[in-house]
Amino acid sequence: VKTLGTVAELRAARAALRAAGERVAFVPTMGNLHEGHLELVRRAKELAERALVSIFVNPLQFGPAEDYASYPRTLARDTTLLEGVGADLLFVPPVAEMYPRPPSRQTRVEVPDLSEGLCGASRPGHFVGVATVVCKLFNLVQPEIALFGEKDFQQLAVIRRMVEDLCLPVEIVGVPTVREPDGLAMSSRNGYLEPDERARAPVLYRALQDAAAAIAAGATDLGGEERRAAAAIDTAGLRTDYVSVRRASDLAPPGPGDGDLVILAATYLGRARLIDNLRVRRGA
Ligand code: PAF
Repeated sequence: VKTLGTVAELRAARAALRAAGERVAFVPTMGNLHEGHLELVRRAKELAERALVSIFVNPLQFGPAEDYASYPRTLARDTTLLEGVGADLLFVPPVAEMYPRPPSRQTRVEVPDLSEGLCGASRPGHFVGVATVVCKLFNLVQPEIALFGEKDFQQLAVIRRMVEDLCLPVEIVGVPTVREPDGLAMSSRNGYLEPDERARAPVLYRALQDAAAAIAAGATDLGGEERRAAAAIDTAGLRTDYVSVRRASDLAPPGPGDGDLVILAATYLGRARLIDNLRVRRGA
């Protein structure tokens, strides 16, 4: 994998690919890669001639009390993993390349509504940080296609809406969540879990599965299902931030006629904040 550290190098590499008529599928990441990221890169390679990955721990999307400083930076290992899946280019900009001015003075991209509830409620400013950096990365990389994990369901919805609202010429592809054998969604933050916490973490996915099964079987009291799932999660010693059933298309509260739903949840466990979601169809 060819590593590019500056915007100038990236622009030159991108121009060369365009001249050669090669399309780029882009996988933006914050590094500390796991099988979920590698799946995005494999899929990227199926969709375009070149797979370009970025690793950038984006200060703008972390709250003041969050883990920006301690977020694992594992570039050597990440590079080896990317070689293994055949990534073509790796963009690893330092903060000053992405934010020449102080991040607080940076022009921002705000996606209303979709950014506000769920994770946006407990992480104020998070999705402005995500949308801003992804918009900048899209302008730099100019990919034909960009891939994101469905584990970050709200993030994916925010990015799709940003692309639509700002008429960005990129096709967004969501890739299904990759899970550990016990169901835990793969996440860079799973590494924060102590062994006893790791053993309890799969309750999050189990609670979503139970709620999805009840809704698919005809349960109409969605609030009751949310409360039951939250209670199951809390009983296992995690602390629920939210469990919420939403319309999958736009994350709005579902009306009686809505069949395509998603159950989203966030919990705290030790140093980690874990999120997960599960799609469910009802009334088919
Ligand atoms: O999902 C992530 O890793 C980040 O939010 C992203 C999309 C790379 C933006 O920093």
